[in-house]
Amino acid sequence: MSRILSGIQPSGTLHIGNYFAMMKPMIELQYHNDLFCFIVNYHALTSIHNPKELAENTINAAMDFIALGLDPDKAHFWVQSDIPEVAELAWILSCHTSLGLLERSHSYKDKVAKGIVPNTGLFTYPVLMAADILLFNAEIIPVGKDQKQHLEITRDIALRFNQTYGEVFVLPQPMISEDIAVIPGIDGQKMSKSYNNTINIFEDETTLKKKVMRIVTDSTPVEAPKNPESCNLFALYKLFAEPAQTEKLKERYLTGGIGYGEVKKELFGLIWEYFAPFRDKRKQLQSNKGDIAAILKKGAEKTRPIARETILRVKKAVGLDYLQ
Ligand code: ADP
Ligand code: TRP
Repeated sequence: MSRILSGIQPSGTLHIGNYFAMMKPMIELQYHNDLFCFIVNYHALTSIHNPKELAENTINAAMDFIALGLDPDKAHFWVQSDIPEVAELAWILSCHTSLGLLERSHSYKDKVAKGIVPNTGLFTYPVLMAADILLFNAEIIPVGKDQKQHLEITRDIALRFNQTYGEVFVLPQPMISEDIAVIPGIDGQKMSKSYNNTINIFEDETTLKKKVMRIVTDSTPVEAPKNPESCNLFALYKLFAEPAQTEKLKERYLTGGIGYGEVKKELFGLIWEYFAPFRDKRKQLQSNKGDIAAILKKGAEKTRPIARETILRVKKAVGLDYLQ
């Protein structure tokens, strides 16, 4: 039984990239592991400064998780800001993190290159993420490939800290599935809440159809052979189809005679069916938002003692606990 931990930002509506890379593995792992799953609203504060939007996104993300099968009685499930020790640890870690380590962050550099004017929180984002992980002695972290460097930064911080103060932290390992490492959005770039290119998990039927029809493809004519490996549409199709169906489509791509429009129609049907059972559960939850908040508060209560234990240990190690 391993301690598995991962978080998701409530910075928008959750999409199928989030689902396959993080949510689905987490939900599957809850049965035979000690699962820690949380909504990282302190992280989302680096990009959202609209209180209503942040609060709504937080509850919606929690509802999505529960609708998709996360069992809050079994797992540890909470909202990041309800365990404030994480901010305390982030400060302590930031005093042990070199500026150069953060300056090398691809995620930060990409955001600045896209024109985002960075606040300090965006720059120190990886330190808060390290605090999230180290506070709960997590061993395995299921994430998408874009988070790989953040995990390396966490390990680096923990390793140096341990070298200075003794074995205080557990070193975590990322868990990244290579076949679904980066899921493309409808424009072919990485699907992301910040790029306006997502297919959301709980999309309504008309919007889903429209978005699938807009997926960017090349302009190979119907009769010509096509390359499945470089096709966004194919990459999305294989997430939802059975292996035999995917194999069949691959053959049809390679021999030619299939148009992208036909594949899009089929993909729409697959996505719609895939999430159907979860959609009903999501509707039920929607009518009782108060219950979701209560579940999250209870989750924080259940989880916080672990954070307290770690923070005391850390304060003792560094000398902030001056009574020692
Ligand atoms: P977003 O980029 O949409 O804001 P987050 O940064 O909140 O997504 O990511 C939440 C989780 O989903 C992370 O583990 C991240 O690696 C994963 N993830 C997000 N988008 C993708 C994608 N397009 N392909 C694979 N994994 C993704
Ligand atoms: N940075 C992650 C993302 O954008 C979210 C996150 C915050 C996280 N804290 C974490 C993921 C701890 C795993 C573990 O997706």
